[in-house]
Amino acid sequence: MTGHKPLRVLITGASSGLGAEMARQLAREGCRVAITGRRKEKLAKTAEVVRFNGGECLELVGDVTKLPLVKAHYATIENRWGGLDWAILNAGVGDSENARHFTAENYHWTFATNVGGVVNWIEAVLPDMLHAKSGVIAGVASLAGYRGLPHSGAYSASKAALISLLESTRVDLRGTGVDVVTVCPGFVKSEMTERNEKDQMIFLLETADGAKRIIDGIKARRRVVHFPLRLSLPTIYLLHNLPGFIYDWLASKVVKRSKKPYIDESHRHKHEG
Ligand SMILES: NC(=O)c1ccc[n+]([C@@H]2O[C@H](COP(=O)([O-])OP(=O)(O)OC[C@H]3O[C@@H](n4cnc5c(N)ncnc54)[C@H](OP(=O)(O)O)[C@@H]3O)[C@@H](O)[C@H]2O)c1
Repeated sequence: MTGHKPLRVLITGASSGLGAEMARQLAREGCRVAITGRRKEKLAKTAEVVRFNGGECLELVGDVTKLPLVKAHYATIENRWGGLDWAILNAGVGDSENARHFTAENYHWTFATNVGGVVNWIEAVLPDMLHAKSGVIAGVASLAGYRGLPHSGAYSASKAALISLLESTRVDLRGTGVDVVTVCPGFVKSEMTERNEKDQMIFLLETADGAKRIIDGIKARRRVVHFPLRLSLPTIYLLHNLPGFIYDWLASKVVKRSKKPYIDESHRHKHEG
């Protein structure tokens, strides 16, 4: 992809969903792929798929919230490949919680992964990218970051923070050769969306479709990669700018219609090591 040299790509959160599928697709394009995730067996499955599709793979088992571990993982990549061309910071979590049963723990856990995991990796990869005067840092945020969605306070807030921090980082790094891409998907099939109410996920995309759109957006160095357009355009340009009192009224209708329990902890901590 860059002349004859295979592109060196990191994908965090590649043990399932979008991350695993991006790893597969990039392997087919001849990339070297470093993958991270906490679940060893699932990560090994992704590695197997990457190798089957012709890509060299580095498996890095562990938690993105732990900075020393993230730095050790980057040192392994640096030793093996001399650095990275792309860092796709995709690892993320999201549990549903109605604020009537507010827990600080849900916020701490969600922010530690969705924001903390990204900043840990930026600190690890950025110095070498700046030195090389090239590289792409792509952070996977969400359309959920454009408004405080019902049942999703922690998730929406973490993705809003991510959108802002990626934007600031992009502006600061302008002219350095390092590009920052913000990825805002709509609904895509994955382990995360399996837990959602089906009738509330409009324009749900297949995982392969979502992964391809992200990769194409990064290749094009788009500032913000958002999709599908029929959901992202109204979200970014309409819902985001809707006066607060209209938004509150609309969103409370969604809460009333929802059959979701107030707290869904079914997934939380399940994979913590
Ligand atoms: N699917 C959608 O509709 C959608 C929409 C917008 C944005 N997104 C974003 O897309 C990204 C990928 O999610 P997905 O939909 O593909 O869901 P997924 O299948 O649940 O994948 C999430 C990945 O993140 C990893 N992960 C979670 N916590 C981690 C931690 N502390 N350390 C390391 N890895 C961790 C998981 O691996 P382990 O459990 O093995 O650690 C898993 O590989 C997330 O950031 C999500 O917020 C998804």
